[in-house]
Amino acid sequence: MTMGMYRLLGVDVREESQTEEALSAAGLDWAAPTLILSEVVLTYMETQRSDAVIGWAAKRLPQSLFVMYEQICPDDPFGRVMQDHFLKLNSTLHALQQYPDLSAQRQRFLDKGWERCVCVDMNAFYLGLVPQEERDRIETLEPFDEYEEWHQKCSHYFILTASRGALMEQALLIPSVSPSWGSTQLKASTVPVCLEGLGLASTWMRLEGLLLTGGSSRGGRVTQRAALSHSYPPSKRRRSGGVRRTLLTTPTQLRPV
Ligand SMILES: C[S@@+](CC[C@H](N)C(=O)[O-])C[C@H]1O[C@@H](n2cnc3c(N)ncnc32)[C@H](O)[C@@H]1O
Repeated sequence: MTMGMYRLLGVDVREESQTEEALSAAGLDWAAPTLILSEVVLTYMETQRSDAVIGWAAKRLPQSLFVMYEQICPDDPFGRVMQDHFLKLNSTLHALQQYPDLSAQRQRFLDKGWERCVCVDMNAFYLGLVPQEERDRIETLEPFDEYEEWHQKCSHYFILTASRGALMEQALLIPSVSPSWGSTQLKASTVPVCLEGLGLASTWMRLEGLLLTGGSSRGGRVTQRAALSHSYPPSKRRRSGGVRRTLLTTPTQLRPV
């Protein structure tokens, strides 16, 4: 399809010579500064083939910026559900087996001929690259309280920028601040409470503690935090002193600052 300066080509990018021919025929100036944007495309190919595309682009485009958005972290519960979802759609996510995290993706591009590469997950992108005013605007569009799911999703997607040539180096996406995920002191006191919840997320904090966040109960969403006590099973009593504390927090308390 051709519309003025815009050319839309249908081509299997795994076929290197056909892709080169199609781009040349469409008038691509290989030496001109070029943006390559790949939003969840390469991961659908066998990894050897997507590696070849990344290497081919580095070789053929000496002034270019590769921007890629894809999935990472395949091996935690969220990652497994994410993979199953794409598997059911018959579009397996290939790349995250060989490149499961940010540093592996970054190294992949450097190994394939890209001079510089920055790879951040979408939490770092949102907090370190989207301006505060824009975040304020988005966050007041409508009420939103699914922060756990939002941050979990964002930790499983990344945006990578890789450059060739000094000109394009300036366009690398480097976060101004890195979000801090350091431990947060939670104030909690023991209260007699009966816990009933649905869809709570849980994380072991320490030997004696379980952090529960989010979820809801018959009374609606949990809006306050509390600490629960109950007895450990006899096998664990000696180590814990017989009491396990369970902390409940509001989702907003987990938001990174
Ligand atoms: C998740 S969609 C991405 C859509 C794209 N970001 C957009 O906004 O149109 C995945 C795309 O990858 C394309 N794709 C998958 N394998 C490809 C290949 N070997 N060559 C070219 N495109 C491919 C599919 O045609 C599909 O359009």
